[in-house]
Amino acid sequence: MNRGRRALLAAVLAAPVAWIAAKKPRRHGGAHDDYFLALQAALRKAGLFRPTLVIDRQKLAHNLARLKAKLPKNKKFRVVAKSLPSLPLVAEVRRAMGTDRLMVFHQPHLNLIAAQMPDAQMLLGKPMPAGAARRFFEDHRRNAFDAPRQIEWLVDTPQRIAEYRDLASASGRLRLNLELDVGLHRGGFRTAQEVVEAIRAIRAAPTLEFSGFMGYEAHAAKIPDALGGVHGALASAMAFYGECVAAARETLGAAFDAERLTLNAGGSNTYAYYDEAAPCNELAIGSGLVKPTDFDTPGLAEHVPASFIATPVLKALNTTQIPGLESLTGAFRAWDPNTARTFYVYGGYWLANAVSPPGLQRNDIWGHSTNQDMLNGSADVQLGVGDFVFFRPHQSEFVFLQFGDLAVYDEGRIVESWPVFPESAGA
Ligand SMILES: Cc1ncc(COP(=O)(O)O)c(C=O)c1O
Repeated sequence: MNRGRRALLAAVLAAPVAWIAAKKPRRHGGAHDDYFLALQAALRKAGLFRPTLVIDRQKLAHNLARLKAKLPKNKKFRVVAKSLPSLPLVAEVRRAMGTDRLMVFHQPHLNLIAAQMPDAQMLLGKPMPAGAARRFFEDHRRNAFDAPRQIEWLVDTPQRIAEYRDLASASGRLRLNLELDVGLHRGGFRTAQEVVEAIRAIRAAPTLEFSGFMGYEAHAAKIPDALGGVHGALASAMAFYGECVAAARETLGAAFDAERLTLNAGGSNTYAYYDEAAPCNELAIGSGLVKPTDFDTPGLAEHVPASFIATPVLKALNTTQIPGLESLTGAFRAWDPNTARTFYVYGGYWLANAVSPPGLQRNDIWGHSTNQDMLNGSADVQLGVGDFVFFRPHQSEFVFLQFGDLAVYDEGRIVESWPVFPESAGA
């Protein structure tokens, strides 16, 4: 064999070895750190031996302080209620930020807030079917909440404006806010001319009032640098927003008063990129205050996770046996030492990642269970029956609703229990 052939053969043999060495999982794992040990002790003391959604009040306060420091001085703050779906949680955020502005996305939530937080000023975050708006009025019991003044209904098309005009003849005066397509392409008005026509249609109806704009730009945080990045996307979003404000000024003439209009934009992932020059006058933020994993983004780098799922370990086994594949137990473990142990937990299969103790992983062959989910870990994972596993939710708006009351953790203790929003009427 000549030298060239020998080198080729060596390369052919080495390649799979190198591939295996690169792909073979490394053993890892450990114990809860002091933070999670203290949280575990607090849950035990509070008698919460079941899946529990924990809000860390100090960490929430940290995020509120960051928001306060970063929010441009001439922008008001609106709480995105769906992302913090609990009245006491919304109240805590309102108190800290000194705001009465809420963004709401679900008719039963609208009824709940109108009934139990009657000083709230609500802007709909999506265009409700006119039938849902009608249902709001049917379900609402008269109280201090003044619906015609305190709700801005979001409209996205001339048809929707016409439907709300018909509704207003029965429900009384309605304030309408126009959804703008500032680049997200999730609907809304797309040109300044469409905006002019929408404002004219609203002004032509004596029972309707034009209340402003909502331009959501969630796409901006995801635009790669090669396509202009977050700054480029926000600049073009705000350029169109500015055109729409100018169109409103021209259409309304002397009646135009920017102070009295709701000019909404923003979201958790973009708010930090705004400055005073932006043509909006308020920013809506929710998720970033509790920071689920979907919000581990550069714009929220100074925010900290403030929400965790805690659940007890029901069973801890020193092996991982897959039904029907018992004979492969040793092989699986030889390949991945992080399958050495098995933990069955109370509940599971949430939109969430296990974060403590470190080293826990799902088993793709075994699958999932919402009743007793399986987690695997190496011999280094320090976890036994009765200990807790902690997860970080991916998002808040849906996951927070799956556990009953939120457990509020403050200075080493569970101090309060906060009910979450109901998903159906009966507020
Ligand atoms: C219209 C609108 N504004 C703002 C937000 C921002 O909410 P968050 O801060 O929870 O991402 C959302 C989120 O869905 C939205 O739909």
